[in-house]
Amino acid sequence: MSDEKKTIFSGIQPSGCVTIGNYLGALRSWKNLQDDYNCYFCVVDLHALTVKQDPAEMRRRCIELYAEYIACGLDPEKNVMFFQSHVPAHSELSWLLTCISYMGEMSRMTQFKEKSKKAGSNVGLGLLCYPVLMAADILLYNTDLVPVGADQKQHLELSRTLAARFNNAYSDTFKVPEPYIPANGARIMSLTDPTSKMSKSAENPNAYVSILDEPDVIMKKFARAVTDSDNKIVHDAQNKPGVTNLLEIYSACTGEPISSIEDAFAGKGYGDFKKAVGEAVVETTQPIRDRFKTIMQDKAYIEKCYTEGAQKASCTANKTLAKVHRKMGLAPHKL
Ligand code: TYM
Repeated sequence: MSDEKKTIFSGIQPSGCVTIGNYLGALRSWKNLQDDYNCYFCVVDLHALTVKQDPAEMRRRCIELYAEYIACGLDPEKNVMFFQSHVPAHSELSWLLTCISYMGEMSRMTQFKEKSKKAGSNVGLGLLCYPVLMAADILLYNTDLVPVGADQKQHLELSRTLAARFNNAYSDTFKVPEPYIPANGARIMSLTDPTSKMSKSAENPNAYVSILDEPDVIMKKFARAVTDSDNKIVHDAQNKPGVTNLLEIYSACTGEPISSIEDAFAGKGYGDFKKAVGEAVVETTQPIRDRFKTIMQDKAYIEKCYTEGAQKASCTANKTLAKVHRKMGLAPHKL
């Protein structure tokens, strides 16, 4: 790791297969930034446990997500790539930060409100504390920049609040991290309900496109995507959320500005447009699918990468944790 470079930390939950939302909102930024930063890319498995998971499926998804990181172009030699649960400092710092967090600020988090509504009468405590664990992830590595989609902005704001609160209470310790949200693709919406975000854990598989979906599946999902009845391809988030979402996906995949896509499709129908969006997504994701299949054939390589990743991550994380122990007045140790 270079001393001159700034540090990036980011992660994805193994709560489903990576969607084009995760890719365009986060993973693609990681890939583009990996040469210029010291990067920590984590599979945040402990976060996924805030809702009930089937253990066998969870294990499979964890390994697959790590392989998807590599397939998307992240280099395990260049970056520190690991599982959150393999570096216990994450859980421990999370507890220490919980002790300086307030019930009010946690219960005001949008994601908590949404997820707890779904959970019904028994809302898990993990859902409430989730953003504190996320703050611990980030703050352990003296992170400068956190590349995420727009939905994580509020959680990141909380990480900044907790860092500043700790620094005020116990003297300067944590760097206050900045978000990095891409100009294009930061909020990809569901294909079945374009007023809510595309989510990898949605019950209806037609709501999301996974980067591992085969081309015919991708084309079908876009052909069925919810639009409206006036057949005009224009960007209007308020009145035409479905078409607007498709325009944003097309623009994020091809790099073409929205206005020139609108011009190119003026007078054409939704059928043609949906086909073009599907094809752009197939083309963007095809190299990822090809690499994924190859990587998954070498489980020993995957295990070697994540074991080394956890060793490197632990070195930095444990130093930060020891500092926090000292500042908070825990008994001295040389552990
Ligand atoms: P997760 O697993 O929900 O999503 C992973 C990343 O993908 C982005 N994203 C999207 N971007 C655009 N459009 C969408 N529809 C879309 N859906 C998801 C997310 O913004 C995220 O960047 N709490 C985090 C995981 C996390 C984390 C961290 C992230 C835990 N610790 C520390 C950064 C730093 C989450 O649930 O992401």
